Amino acid sequence: MNTFADATAAPETIAPEELTEEELTEAQPAEVLRPLTVAELHLHIEGTLEPELIFELAARNGITLPYADLDELRGRYEFTDLQSFLDLYYANMAVLQTEQDFADMTRAYLTRAAAAGVRHAEIMMDPQAHLSRGIPLETCVNGVASALATSVEDFGISTLLIAAFLRDLSEESALEVLDALLAMDAPIAAIGLDSAEVGNPPSKFERLFAKARAAGLRLTAHAGEEAPPSYIIEALDILGVERIDHGIRCMDDPELVERLVDERTPLTVCPLSNVRLRAVDTLADHPLPAMLAAGLNVSVNSDDPAYFGGYVDENFAQLRTVFELSEFDVVRLAAHSINSSFASEERKTELLNELNGV
Ligand code: ADE
Ligand code: ZN
Repeated sequence: MNTFADATAAPETIAPEELTEEELTEAQPAEVLRPLTVAELHLHIEGTLEPELIFELAARNGITLPYADLDELRGRYEFTDLQSFLDLYYANMAVLQTEQDFADMTRAYLTRAAAAGVRHAEIMMDPQAHLSRGIPLETCVNGVASALATSVEDFGISTLLIAAFLRDLSEESALEVLDALLAMDAPIAAIGLDSAEVGNPPSKFERLFAKARAAGLRLTAHAGEEAPPSYIIEALDILGVERIDHGIRCMDDPELVERLVDERTPLTVCPLSNVRLRAVDTLADHPLPAMLAAGLNVSVNSDDPAYFGGYVDENFAQLRTVFELSEFDVVRLAAHSINSSFASEERKTELLNELNGV
């Protein structure tokens, strides 16, 4: 029985017809509207570990955390850049020990995502971050996969799993893990590339992506989160990825923007993440509106929501507040997420119809 319901509780949704006209004028849009139908394409499952769940799993596994209580842990959530976040993100994974732990974390995310309107989720996990702690591949993969296997019945969310590789480790390590995943016939649909970006360009992983492509896997990679546009170009030209995770730094290269627009390349943007990791100064400085205006295929995603102050609904809510996005733009962003997913054409049509109220 889990006891972390509060940590995963969604903001209460009020149907408009339940409100008086006065209340309707006062209520915030995110409370009044039914959740927008979206696909979440950029989500690290280990980044959904809420502080309450970290303490619960630590107690269950007899692990002593280096924080006395929740407040002390939350006090560490002040990041100066990507690396300062990654240090805490990897340290907190110590509480994940058993298949049950991975399954509970995944179900907690799905519970919260369903309330946020997520109807399809492509979930990244970092197998190397668990292997290096002595956790077998089967434990992390089977734990997450067991929760995903019933995600449609249990949460109304279609899901698929992305094995993400740590770019600050060697390509040999990544190749070994990919081989092991393929040998165990792991239920993965795609591979990704994450962790410390600057100094670890996509070109370092050319053989890994070629092998994954040959195995029939879909391809995505983080690029242009902190590193310059050349990383995005390498991910496209050398790795042959279909999607770019983040990609905000493309705005520094007008020629690249033109190419991304022409090729309709999906960019899975994570606004609250970019603020918390200081890729941008404030949300008001975020390039998302300019990216939309340029005609880029951008979607809104939550990245590591337990660390960055909000799930996908909160990302949309804050964007609406700061930028006064039109309903048209909000629906366009949601449609981009669905169209950019690796879901079947049938599922995409189903979700687009739902988004359009058909
Ligand atoms: N791993 C988890 N979150 C990440 C991010 N935002 N960038 C790179 N690697 C990550
Ligand atoms: Zn990410």
